[in-house]
Amino acid sequence: MKPIIRYTGTIAPQGVTAMVALAVALYVFGSSPVAAQATPQATPKATPQATEQPAPRADGSNTMPPAAPSAEAGSAAAGADAGSAAAAGSGADAGSAAPPKPTIVEVPCDNATPAYTFNGPVDGEVATDSVVKLAMPAGVDVIPDNQNSAGLEVKAGQTKCLKFSNDGIYLFHSSTKQHGAITSRQWYDILVNKQVEDLKGGNFWMPKAVNLTADDSDLMYYAVLGLSIFFFVAIAGAVVYFTIKYRHRPGRKPEPSAAHNDALEITWTVIPTIICVFLFYYGWTTYVRVVTPPTKAVEINVLAWRWNWQFTHGNGVQDSDLHVPVNTPVRLVMTSKDVLHSFYAPVMRVKQDIIPRRYTYAWFFPTKPGTYRLTCAEYCGTNHSQMGITNDGRRAVLVVHEPGGYERYLADKAAQSTKLPPDLLGKLLYEKKGCNACHTIDGTARVGPTFQHDFGTMVPLSDGTQVKMDENYIRESLMYPQARSRPGFPPSMPSFEGQLKPQEIEGIIAYIKSLK
Ligand code: CUA
Repeated sequence: MKPIIRYTGTIAPQGVTAMVALAVALYVFGSSPVAAQATPQATPKATPQATEQPAPRADGSNTMPPAAPSAEAGSAAAGADAGSAAAAGSGADAGSAAPPKPTIVEVPCDNATPAYTFNGPVDGEVATDSVVKLAMPAGVDVIPDNQNSAGLEVKAGQTKCLKFSNDGIYLFHSSTKQHGAITSRQWYDILVNKQVEDLKGGNFWMPKAVNLTADDSDLMYYAVLGLSIFFFVAIAGAVVYFTIKYRHRPGRKPEPSAAHNDALEITWTVIPTIICVFLFYYGWTTYVRVVTPPTKAVEINVLAWRWNWQFTHGNGVQDSDLHVPVNTPVRLVMTSKDVLHSFYAPVMRVKQDIIPRRYTYAWFFPTKPGTYRLTCAEYCGTNHSQMGITNDGRRAVLVVHEPGGYERYLADKAAQSTKLPPDLLGKLLYEKKGCNACHTIDGTARVGPTFQHDFGTMVPLSDGTQVKMDENYIRESLMYPQARSRPGFPPSMPSFEGQLKPQEIEGIIAYIKSLK
């Protein structure tokens, strides 16, 4: 009897302690970043500090150059000219590439505000069509490395302002530094290639939330975590303490057990009940808010398949990275072509299964512009962890644009896709539609056959016959992948019937042709 009474005497203060501990846990976990957190910041890019400062749009450059090829396309051209120096694995169309037009334009520095300043022959990444100021110290110069880089020439001690009006990699060398390159990309391609910001801020448990409604679900998480830790320590501690204190010792009789104890039983019923009701009420109201998007939201369609995302925006623009506006509710209407996937944006605290032949929804309210992680959180096969990966090894990202940036992205992106020549459009689609997840362009077999070399040749089929790999076979394979399949590959290719415009099909055919 005695020990139990002693225990009852302390349980009420412990109830208070529980609340205090919860409050402390919320405070500690909720607000302070854990100092010891591993923060693998971007391996410092070759880009000099100066290029990080100005926003890529600082110059207000909003116009698309005529027939601006994509960044990938540009790098292919550069690779073709510069041999192995640039763009590994994309120089296959060297023979057929037309000589590039001069794309570097000098502008007077007097009335131009440079978006980037390079003080010396340094590697850099710049937004296409923005003003780049190159200031060479005495004795240091920049000399173009090939035809594609014509115009990228700054003498020692000279300052020049240049505009790169086409995407691409512009190679140079100098008397002091062997080789370098300035990469010119569309401003939105610079955003998607930035290091994700998930690990800046936040704490040991979660990245910093940038969703307006995330605080509620975070509070729930920390409340449950804090309560669990508190009760685990309290109960395990009591078990250990009693085990030692009341262990069997020779010559001592066991004390009789108490029949019951009203105060103790009421306490251990009432306090957990209050906690559970609090958790239920808070969890339920939070859940209702999380699953109910506001009626006025930017709506984006999401199509997932093995192994890529396709985000379709209001004006028809499609991309495999998700671009959204800041301070605006975003609603996702999602479905899958094949198996279960799951949309997961950790900074938004949004994770929602994507199910074939059914629509599911998710919504969030981004509060801070940036580039964030976006992953598939449902095992969907071989390349699940690589969903949306590009040929450069970059994963799909979620870009929250500065005010006005989303509208600019939609306009610029729409303009880009109509202006590309077929093979460059095909190359863009090859990555944007996720073909690269299964088909290589370097001759090696992955989940599917490679795109290299085979065009125009007879290829073996699963039924033992052969087919000439021509325009018709490519088209049929896009629409009905299993109709005439190749041996040794799993029948996992999804159909693209109804999802490619005729112009896009021709683009893919032209691209595969260019790889022969
Ligand atoms: Cu898609 Cu995992």
